Amino acid sequence: MLALLPGAVTALAQPYAFAHRTHLELKLECARCHPAISAATAPDRTRMFSPEACGECHGKGILDLRPAPESTVAHFSHRRHAELGNVAPVILAAIRQGRYQGEVDDRLRSDLQTADPCQACHRGLARSDEVTRDALPRMGDCLVCHSNDDPPRSCLKCHASAHPARK
Ligand code: HEC
Ligand code: HEC
Ligand code: HEC
Ligand code: HEC
Ligand code: HEC
Repeated sequence: MLALLPGAVTALAQPYAFAHRTHLELKLECARCHPAISAATAPDRTRMFSPEACGECHGKGILDLRPAPESTVAHFSHRRHAELGNVAPVILAAIRQGRYQGEVDDRLRSDLQTADPCQACHRGLARSDEVTRDALPRMGDCLVCHSNDDPPRSCLKCHASAHPARK
């Protein structure tokens, strides 16, 4: 069945949109395609995913992907934050206490009912048909633990400039 995949996929428009939805339905773990993340100490677009992880099902013909949107976060350690375990309950508690700095709706509340530490920050992947900003954490998620007092210095903790803007 999987041998038919390269043909099926090349019928789609290139560069391809990558759907986390289809792949999470296959019960694939995040680390299967993102093996470098748990040890990463800084953002790095070049290790967005491991190309070797795709070959098993797709051969080599699938790597021309639409570029993933960039985050404005310049300083962040996945390794350091992995030590904190699942931060979803911490964010949910801030919402309940009215301390969450950002929009809150039922979808956010239900997405935060997750046992997967990765999806505490990267939400909505199971319904995502294309890699967009939607799956990046919001600033409010970080401010649950990090104060944003005293700009611009505090802004530079996470951003490269005190006036970050998306490209
Ligand atoms: C089958 C492989 C695969 C699996 C499994 C997978 N991903 Fe991805 N992920 C990718 C690919 C490929 C990209 C980059 C797509 C692109 O460049 O267009 C990506 C991109 C991302 C991004 C970048 C989003 C952005 O906007 O910059 C995040 C965050 C992410 N994945 C998180 C996760 C998490 C969390 C899981 C587990 C719940 C997961 N992924 C499971 C393949 C996978
Ligand atoms: C365990 C097998 C498996 C692995 C590993 C895997 N894929 Fe897939 N992929 C699939 C299946 C199954 C489909 C759905 C094919 C269909 O419905 O036509 C698919 C579909 C796709 C598509 C078409 C659009 C979409 O996302 O549904 C792209 C693009 C794609 N995969 C890219 C990748 C990339 C990039 C990697 C490695 C980071 C990867 N895949 C790893 C099984 C896999
Ligand atoms: C505390 C929040 C948080 C958690 C938990 C988290 N991430 Fe991230 N992730 C981020 C931020 C912020 C970025 C953007 C900055 C960066 O790239 O490091 C990001 C970026 C990414 C990217 C894009 C690649 C890159 O380095 O730019 C991938 C892939 C990713 N995360 C996967 C994961 C996976 C897999 C897990 C679980 C092991 C995870 N993340 C857990 C906050 C988080
Ligand atoms: C559950 C609490 C929690 C959340 C949520 C959280 N952090 Fe942190 N973060 C910490 C702790 C604890 C440290 C280590 C002490 C320190 O340096 O403040 C840390 C350290 C940092 C550091 C400096 C040290 C390093 O190794 O990176 C940066 C930058 C950072 N976090 C960025 C972020 C960003 C960006 C987000 C949101 C995507 C985020 N944090 C979300 C708790 C959190
Ligand atoms: C603890 C980490 C952290 C701190 C401190 C922080 N931010 Fe952010 N900020 C984020 C994250 C995460 C995002 C969402 C990432 C994205 O969408 O690129 C974000 C997004 C933004 C955006 C939206 C970018 C855009 O163009 O839409 C602006 C503007 C911004 N921050 C300004 C600031 C300012 C000003 C400060 C200082 C008062 C600050 N941030 C402090 C983590 C932080």
